Amino acid sequence: MEIPFHKPYITEDEVSGVLDSLRSGWITMGPKTMEFEKRFGEYIGSRNAVSMNSCTACLHLALKMIDLKEGDEVIVPTITFTATAEVIAYFRAVPVLVDVDEETCNIDVTKIEEKITPRTKAIIAVHFAGQPCDMDELTDIAERHHLFVIEDAAHAIPAWYKGRTIGTIGDITCFSFYATKTLATGEGGMVTTGNDEWAERMKILRLHGISKDAWKRYTKEGSWFYEVIDAGYKYNMTDIQAALGLAQLSKVEWMWRRRSEIAKSYTESFQEYHEISLPAVKPDRESAWHLYTIRLDPGRFSGGRDRFIEELKSRGVSTSVHFIPLYRHPYYRNTYGYDRKDFPVSEKIFERTVSLPLYPGMADEEIRWVTESVADVLGKHRG
Ligand SMILES: Cc1ncc(COP(=O)(O)O)c(C=O)c1O
Repeated sequence: MEIPFHKPYITEDEVSGVLDSLRSGWITMGPKTMEFEKRFGEYIGSRNAVSMNSCTACLHLALKMIDLKEGDEVIVPTITFTATAEVIAYFRAVPVLVDVDEETCNIDVTKIEEKITPRTKAIIAVHFAGQPCDMDELTDIAERHHLFVIEDAAHAIPAWYKGRTIGTIGDITCFSFYATKTLATGEGGMVTTGNDEWAERMKILRLHGISKDAWKRYTKEGSWFYEVIDAGYKYNMTDIQAALGLAQLSKVEWMWRRRSEIAKSYTESFQEYHEISLPAVKPDRESAWHLYTIRLDPGRFSGGRDRFIEELKSRGVSTSVHFIPLYRHPYYRNTYGYDRKDFPVSEKIFERTVSLPLYPGMADEEIRWVTESVADVLGKHRG
């Protein structure tokens, strides 16, 4: 059996939505993008939803909204994708790394305050694997130190923290619709915010800084006249992507339930294997289950993480590692002088972690094959 690490859940709904866009003659940002924004905002419960061509673009414009300046500092967790921090470097500002919580892999809120300086402007909270961060503690720290809270919710559609949907808590939340994400449009992203003025500015900046409703200039009701009011970006979503997004959004809860079911099934099957520890979700929140990450205990499993990955691969099971901590990458190490000794929890996690395939289209026999293959490889290198 060949089990890829990820497969998007594409049905006839997505195919006919895209065909409809192609046949309509309108393939860039247009009515479907507007509808997707409206429906996404309603689903999350946010008054503003602004689409872009990636979550990275959303994070960039989020930092523009808080007026990030050269030399400012932004707190980010060590274990995340480079996008979370690279956008800080765009401003010649500094990503200040905070180690993660051993259980959840989310930013360790008890270690944030020691990293705050007069230059700190914001905290970017990454909801790792779809499990919300400790938002009450984080918000409390941000309020006391007058910092903005930006949420990197690339993994968190849908996710809930104490009954509140992710996308309604921080100052700005950035979602990703990248091909492997829980709602996929190939490439794409969305910002939600309660701040109407920011939403309007981001709509302008995502399309070259052109004054209001620039996308309409080629429509019947539009006009050829426009004015550029800022040095903007080419960050807009297209109607082809939005058609995919609308189809995916209509089954987002079903896809989430199926992911949760698969995660539960893995957890039940792996319960008796003491060589690994399993992902745990805190009782006051719901994870989007973007990833199912296990950790190998080197005292009980002698094979090593990389060998475990290779042996699963030879059984047709593809896996991944989330993430190589930022301080281990040459760019971050050389530019900011991070030292892995300063992040003991991330180091411990990184050497042990593996993400297993988890997506709604997995058949029961595929789930069984993953489970049996993991058991088989663990059995070979016990002790
Ligand atoms: C935590 C995190 N943040 C941001 C991103 C960037 O998302 P996008 O590819 O939509 O720019 C990713 C993508 O993998 C991610 O995992």
